[in-house]
Order: sequence, then C-alpha cells, then structure tokens
Amino acid sequence: MSHSPNSPNYERVLAEHRALKDLLAKIDRALAEKTASIDAVSDLIAGLGDRLVRHFSMEEDGGYFAEALTRAPRLVSLANELMAQHPKMCTRARDLVLDVGQMKPKQDWWDATRERFDAFRDELLKHEQQEDVLIQEAYNRDIGETD
Ligand SMILES: [Fe+2]
Ligand SMILES: [Fe+2]
Repeated sequence: MSHSPNSPNYERVLAEHRALKDLLAKIDRALAEKTASIDAVSDLIAGLGDRLVRHFSMEEDGGYFAEALTRAPRLVSLANELMAQHPKMCTRARDLVLDVGQMKPKQDWWDATRERFDAFRDELLKHEQQEDVLIQEAYNRDIGETD
C-alpha cells in the first residue's frame, strides 16, 4: 500500500478526514459513556459544526477537488454531486447544534442527542466515504491504512 502521495492536497484532505472522523468518534464515546457534562458534550458538537464549515470551504476553495479533477475529469459529476451536499449538511449541522442547546433542560437529553447525532454522523460519514473513493480514483492509490 502506497504511503507517499505526491500531492500536498492529497495529504491534506486525508489528514482532514482523519481529524473529522476522530472528532465524530470522540462525540460518539462521550454520548455512550455519559461521564462528561451536557455542556461539555454540547461544546464538542458545536465544535463539529464549526469544523465542518471550515472543512467544506477548504474542499471547495480549489483544494483537492480541483486537483483531483484535473487528474480525472470523468469524476466531475460525482464531485459536483458531493459539493452540492455541503450546504445541506451545514444546515443540518447548525440545526443539530441549536437543538442540542435547546434540549438542555430536558430529561431525555442524552437519548435525544444520541439519536440526532447518529443520523447526522451516518450522513456525514457516507459523504466523506464517497470523497475518499473519489480521490482514491483520481490519484489511483489505496487509502485504507495511512498511519
Ligand atoms: Fe465534502
Ligand atoms: Fe470531506
């Protein structure tokens, strides 16, 4: 398996995707363990929302998409499809952050947040997975184990 891609954009997006998955796993653990305070978990979810806004704009601002597509123009329609999902996911992330904040006084905060977060995480991971496939195809490399 190759671990030495030539492109800084390729490295950057993989690092970004790893960091995003780490944050999702951290929130997932916090919701499972229930040892942190509701405020602390709410902050993590708010941080996810902020991170996503930056992540999506990095991808859109001539990041890996632009370079990947010059390598593999056949992937343009998939790339456009994926980028079109960004605004919708930003809105969903914002709604999640707001709802999590508003639900705070309620007894069932943990269960309700778990349910909302799981649905959002699944959608986001599907999106990221498709991006990984796209850049894998564009750069024609294996990207399973990168550590
Ligand atoms: Fe994306
Ligand atoms: Fe991404």
